Amino acid sequence: MDTKQRLEELKKRDALAEAGGGSERRERQHKEGKLSARERIELLCDEGSFEELDKYVAHRCADFGMAEQRIVGDGFVTGYGRIDGRLVFVFAQDFTVFGGSLSESNAMKICKIMDHAMRTGAPVIGLNDSGGARIQEGVMSLAGYAEIFLRNTLASGVVPQISAILGPCAGGAVYSPAITDFVLMTSGASCMFVTGPDVIKTVTHEDVTKEELGGAMTHNTTSGVANFIARDDADCMAMIRELLGFLPSNNLEDPPRRASSDPADRAEPGLDRLIPPDPMVPYDIKDVIHAVVDDAYFFEVHEHYAKNIVVGFARLDGRPVGIVANQPAFLAGCLDINASVKGARFVRFCDAFNIPLVTFEDVPGFLPGTQQEFGGIIRHGAKLLFAFAEATVPKLTVITRKAYGGAYCVMASKHIRTDVNFAWPTAEIAVMGPEGAVNIVYKRELDRTAPDNREALRREKIEEFRERFANPFVAAERGYIDAVIQPALTRPKLITALRALDTKRDTNPKKKHGNIPL
Ligand code: HXC
Repeated sequence: MDTKQRLEELKKRDALAEAGGGSERRERQHKEGKLSARERIELLCDEGSFEELDKYVAHRCADFGMAEQRIVGDGFVTGYGRIDGRLVFVFAQDFTVFGGSLSESNAMKICKIMDHAMRTGAPVIGLNDSGGARIQEGVMSLAGYAEIFLRNTLASGVVPQISAILGPCAGGAVYSPAITDFVLMTSGASCMFVTGPDVIKTVTHEDVTKEELGGAMTHNTTSGVANFIARDDADCMAMIRELLGFLPSNNLEDPPRRASSDPADRAEPGLDRLIPPDPMVPYDIKDVIHAVVDDAYFFEVHEHYAKNIVVGFARLDGRPVGIVANQPAFLAGCLDINASVKGARFVRFCDAFNIPLVTFEDVPGFLPGTQQEFGGIIRHGAKLLFAFAEATVPKLTVITRKAYGGAYCVMASKHIRTDVNFAWPTAEIAVMGPEGAVNIVYKRELDRTAPDNREALRREKIEEFRERFANPFVAAERGYIDAVIQPALTRPKLITALRALDTKRDTNPKKKHGNIPL
């Protein structure tokens, strides 16, 4: 073969790899509103930056007539590229080749880029669209999955891992995305489940559609498996780019700072009037977040799940921060099982990747009820406590209104190593709300009082309690609150504190790992 022929051969092989499962299958993919693996990567990475690896890898299976069906690349596109100029490793499953199923060969392709990502300290992004384990390969495919799961686990907390679910993702295959840091799903096109509708029908006799069982909305609202819902593939790729803009490339780096044109000393007078005079009246904590952060831009994570706690990323003076906030507009901002788990996972992510935590607190306590107690609110609530307590990143708290009971301790209180604790003058910090407290502390006195006078006495005691304890100054006198601040000045106060904490160093005792109450 002369050089010209060799170049022709190369072109031919490239064309075969790029053709994937052929134009007919690609058209079907497009008709379903889905892009091909390569089209997705093109949208994800900076223009022209993607370099493919292992393009010519083929499967090694000879059973079930597979020897005659070898497709160059074996249906997975893997390699590295840039997002906003920063290195990322990417794999994308091509549904047009054996339904994007995982063979031994393409499992090794994924493992290779994950190993590269770990050595170079770069994020891994998986674009999933697959029928799962390649049935014809049997246990070799299962072994491939397990190799990936191991790498997902070892990479956790070292490099950010992001999973986009853009088609089916079923069986044990779901556990790779589940170990990663963020799961995005496309509306209408994606689904995730351990066992599908047919198996469920056989085993439990339940009738459920694929969408109801494991569609994007189900996992964004009910199960909490997914963190984001995207309109389509293009929207999903844009969201991943956006998300990465808040994250460092690995656990040894700080998150990327951007120049901000939003003045650091900007006061927001509207915040002085935000808290309703009646403590039972809700308000939207997102109004506080938007008013405080750079350009009112808040990138919410897990928006549709456990709405009583709000988590997400924003910037303060150009520095990325992780925001955790009770939401009084939903379930009065109570902490329940789902909110605790959602908050804990987000706090641990931020801590692992050096992203400072800013907590806005307005919490009446843990949600009462048998459903919560039987469901293990003790164990789950402890996760949030554990996560905040072990976090060593800069931690700032602003108590806007209620900080009652155990929830006061949990929500980044001074006692669990929060660096700077602010309270607004409207803060109420106590063991419980005035009504509950009076009913317990003055029970005997109330019982002894003539029924006609009882209510008046109760009201009087409640007012007395509110005056004495439902304020920030008892805590401030002890130094549990560092400063009671004018709400309008929350942004400058937070930014000044963050600047002061730029050089913060804190560590946990040396150990193999803690034992978070899972
Ligand atoms: C080999 C597969 C495949 C698989 C799909 N195909 N899944 N080939 N192994 N797992 C092939 C089909 O034969 C078909 O080939 C092409 O992909 C497209 O599939 P269709 O069925 O035509 O597509 P669609 O109607 O969209 O249905 C998609 C699907 C369905 C829902 C994913 O294909 C399906 O149910 N597949 C099996 C899913 C499954 O049970 N996987 C194993 C899960 S257990 P042609 O040549 O006709 O285009 C598992 C264990 C992992 O994954 C364990 C890890 C620990």
